[in-house]
Amino acid sequence: MTIMGNAILVTGGAGFIGSNFVLQWIKNSGTAVVNLDLLTYAGNPGNLAEIAGDSRHQLVRGDICDAELVAALLREHRPRVIVHFAAESHVDRSIVDPGAFIRTNVQGTFTLLEQAKLYWSELDDAGRREFRFLHVSTDEVYGTLEAEDPAFSETTAYAPNSPYAASKAASDHLARAYFHTYGLPVLTTNCSNNYGPFQFLEKLIPLVILNALEGRNLPVYGDGGNVRDWLFVEDHCSAIRAVIDRGRAGETYNIGGNSERKNLDVVTSICDIVDELRPDAALGPRRKLITFVTDRPGHDRRYAIDASKIGRELGWRPEEKFDSGLYKTVAWYLDHGSWVQSVRTGAYREWIRKNYEERIQS
Ligand code: NAD
Ligand code: TYD
Repeated sequence: MTIMGNAILVTGGAGFIGSNFVLQWIKNSGTAVVNLDLLTYAGNPGNLAEIAGDSRHQLVRGDICDAELVAALLREHRPRVIVHFAAESHVDRSIVDPGAFIRTNVQGTFTLLEQAKLYWSELDDAGRREFRFLHVSTDEVYGTLEAEDPAFSETTAYAPNSPYAASKAASDHLARAYFHTYGLPVLTTNCSNNYGPFQFLEKLIPLVILNALEGRNLPVYGDGGNVRDWLFVEDHCSAIRAVIDRGRAGETYNIGGNSERKNLDVVTSICDIVDELRPDAALGPRRKLITFVTDRPGHDRRYAIDASKIGRELGWRPEEKFDSGLYKTVAWYLDHGSWVQSVRTGAYREWIRKNYEERIQS
């Protein structure tokens, strides 16, 4: 089915951030989305249940590395924007299986850029001027900070430390090169850690919420002193919309939540919220479930984002405060037991066994 008029193409729109973005886009713009997603372990059409049957959304199961498929979708739907989320996104998995990250994040981004360039070059003048390719990336490309270092800005040198970050850095460089070499109107966003509804259960915040609820150990890597800058996912999505609307082609924009927290503080806050919302007298305070385990190899100590450029140039600021956003997120996971159950596939259980059984408690 061809989606009529003014559609955008989203990749990875059945994943965590992509699905939040698709829901927000349809609500706010009312225009159609073609959603290309391979539905790997991280992709879940259930995230899009709210728009099931809506003619403005079409989910296409397919691979961004498939040039013919990408070309056919561009020819058929003639999108004015491509928003590229699809990626392998979990650092721990990139340590165990880096090949999948090179394939999707590097080869897949290259395939999309190449097909976008061919499509764009055949548009008329107005179409070429309006077209945007928004490449969604991460602050992890900048490497790690010491406690006193200034936050990452758009001019911070790239220094990726994990295979995930290296693969995203490579994709950012390709996106940049397609602007400078071919004039393809590419925009890149580098965002800090997201949290909120629909995040896959392997990431820190959902993992800790569910383990706390179910009285299982809460695995904190190393000393728990690593710092992340947390951003509520809906704020990330609104930032991406601002960049599509008002961003300057060829530019990069850092996106962050001004909410730096140590992992241990995030975990104890989650324990306290779960205690409040689901008290369990037999279990007692969930903080006692915190278990320090072997650190992640090459674990970046601190991330912090200077988001002043997007604030100054595009007028975007995060709306959610970390404490209220975390509370909402915990409440969402506690209220969505059937979503959680549907995500707990065999593949997820196998990953938990692989990642945690060999970690030594300290
Ligand atoms: P996710 O792992 O939850 O979702 C990724 C989606 O991409 C899934 O739906 C998956 O099925 C799909 N996908 C994977 N390989 C594919 C392929 N070859 N072809 C088509 N689809 C494929 O990831 P996320 O957390 O939603 O992250 C989305 C993007 O945002 C990524 O590019 C990530 O690097 C970036 N990002 C994430 C965060 C974060 O905190 N999660 C922060 C900054 C940037
Ligand atoms: P994660 O959610 O994997 O995001 P990222 O690695 O992209 O920052 O992890 C967030 C932080 O939490 C990171 O410093 C690693 C740490 N962490 C733990 O301490 N225990 C865990 O079980 C997980 C998954 C992460």
